[in-house]
Amino acid sequence: MSYKIAVLPGDGIGPEVVREGTQLLSQVASLYGFGVEFEEGLVGGASIDAYGKPLTDPVLKLAKGGDAVLLGAMGGPKWDGLDYSIRPERALLALRQELGLFANLRPVKVFSPLASASTLRREVVEGTDLLVVRELIGGIYFGQPKGVTKLPDGTERGVNTEVYTTPEIERIARVAFEAARRRRKKVASVDKANVLEATELWRKVVTRFHKENGYGDIALEHMLVDNCAMQLVRNPKQFDVIVTTNLFGDILSDEAAMLTGSIGMLPSASLGGKVGMYEPVHGTAPDIVGKNMANPLATILTVALMLRHSLDQSKAADRIERAVEAALDEGYRTADIQEKGCRLVGCKEMGRLVREKIDKGM
Ligand SMILES: NC(=O)c1ccc[n+]([C@@H]2O[C@H](COP(=O)([O-])OP(=O)(O)OC[C@H]3O[C@@H](n4cnc5c(N)ncnc54)[C@H](O)[C@@H]3O)[C@@H](O)[C@H]2O)c1
Repeated sequence: MSYKIAVLPGDGIGPEVVREGTQLLSQVASLYGFGVEFEEGLVGGASIDAYGKPLTDPVLKLAKGGDAVLLGAMGGPKWDGLDYSIRPERALLALRQELGLFANLRPVKVFSPLASASTLRREVVEGTDLLVVRELIGGIYFGQPKGVTKLPDGTERGVNTEVYTTPEIERIARVAFEAARRRRKKVASVDKANVLEATELWRKVVTRFHKENGYGDIALEHMLVDNCAMQLVRNPKQFDVIVTTNLFGDILSDEAAMLTGSIGMLPSASLGGKVGMYEPVHGTAPDIVGKNMANPLATILTVALMLRHSLDQSKAADRIERAVEAALDEGYRTADIQEKGCRLVGCKEMGRLVREKIDKGM
């Protein structure tokens, strides 16, 4: 068995962390007896510089034609002045839409050795292991009408529209219930049903879908988004799977990210179409680019998600996660998660350490 992986490193620290990801993937492939073939493409600012646009047709074809996409990050100050329609980040939205990736999975797991790196108290965060399932290609980011218009009196009016249909809600609910079944069998569906009609429908459809599709083994609760934001910092351990809309998911997953101490630790998977796309949650980190200071663990954990969700290699995924925990246990830290008395290492060294732990059979 051999898998074709489209590798899109992007800008800033993207290429630095993706390099560690591909090296790791090659290593576990040979350990577990499968093949991987990488094909690289330019996206974001790198593609703008080379071709004048953030995503070209050949790169889109490359992404659609493989078994999975490994993405770094895109954007940076160099391209900040460009019009929104050709900004690097447009490539990300286009890839999600073109690949039909309606579900974004962000696991938030607090590794015990890092529990004190969080801004919250150790006893609050230690043991947190939750999954945010965010709807990714609907809702207010795409709903029509949208835009800014001039009014007769010279002022302006900005509009965005929250829209969800029954099938859009059902398919994301299914992803959440299926994920919960492989975890601790609890789903919190988050909405603002007391104010927004679109999410009143969300609540109604999730409730019916749960009842009518044999998910009786999954405990479902509904939570208003303002309460969820509060519960995430009050008692994050109460959550297993959180399923929510595009906008609420965007905000709540960043809030949940902070429980782990650093954005440099968070992986993500976008699923729904034939090909899954896997990327670290962080951006291009222009402040540390080229300094060998980036934390590669988000990308390394992203590779584990790819192995689990697209390549059917969950044993290899488990081994990577254990190796990350082992490296952290021995006190190795990149600058973003450093603490007193730790063993400070750079991006390349952290990648190498994880590979060493894997070689040692951890
Ligand atoms: N998915 C994406 O491609 C994506 C996501 C977010 C931001 N961006 C883009 O990235 C650029 C910078 O955005 P930003 O500064 O808001 O967010 P960022 O995530 O790039 O950086 C925020 C802070 O976290 C640090 N950081 C991020 N990743 C890290 C890692 N792996 N290791 C160590 N430290 C890390 C950075 O040094 C910085 O201090 C912008 O152009 C933005 O549009 C892209």
